Amino acid sequence: MLAIIGGTGLTQLANLDVSRRQVVRTPYGEPSGPLTFGAIRGVPVVFLARHGYGHTIPPHQVNYRANLWALKEQGAGDIVSVVSVGGIRTDLGPGRIVVPHQVIDYTCGRMNTFFENEAPVKHIDFTEPYTDELRNRLLAAAKACGEAAVDGAVYAATQGPRLETAAEIDRLERDGADIVGMTGMPEATLAREIELAYAAIAVVVNHAAGRGASVRGVPLQRIEEVLKDAVGRVRKIIEAFVAA
Ligand code: HPA
Repeated sequence: MLAIIGGTGLTQLANLDVSRRQVVRTPYGEPSGPLTFGAIRGVPVVFLARHGYGHTIPPHQVNYRANLWALKEQGAGDIVSVVSVGGIRTDLGPGRIVVPHQVIDYTCGRMNTFFENEAPVKHIDFTEPYTDELRNRLLAAAKACGEAAVDGAVYAATQGPRLETAAEIDRLERDGADIVGMTGMPEATLAREIELAYAAIAVVVNHAAGRGASVRGVPLQRIEEVLKDAVGRVRKIIEAFVAA
């Protein structure tokens, strides 16, 4: 079954025909909210709002382990994660939709593994953090519904909840990052650890600090506007993805 984790601006899926909501408890505590089960075009889908349905959980307090565990336990195999990001590359301006292919993790102090007391110690291969097959299906779905999606970007995951300084964005760019967000990690790692296929749709909601329209500060009041339009396009891509 397909699971969709909705980020900022996507606390529900308007095109999801909801059948039930379920509270799931996990060995790692509570997920961000009840899982919403339903169907899109007749295909079963489960949805979870990463920040809670009232958007009350900040990125560093999301219980990523509980979210992924709950989705897996309830039968999810594929995870499509919707995230909002700042564009570091100036061509990745507000409104662009990106399917990242790489991650650099700058987060700290988050519970970032299920492998705590394993003997012998367990490692996962994370050379390619996103599942290629899912990425390609997302890109094909975007194409099929006439939405331009950028194929590939390096996602820098920062700790937040504050935005970055201009110098930090310069550093991330030197590191090779194209977009920056606060929720991409440890979600991707945890999905890999429990063998869930995982890919992300990143919506650029602002130029990163010190770039483009954010040269003198990130215009936070504009983000909601950008999201409102972009979320409709993301829903269309998801619908095409499910229908394919
Ligand atoms: N930085 C980090 N996370 C973000 C940003 C940003 O500029 N925009 C949306 N999420």
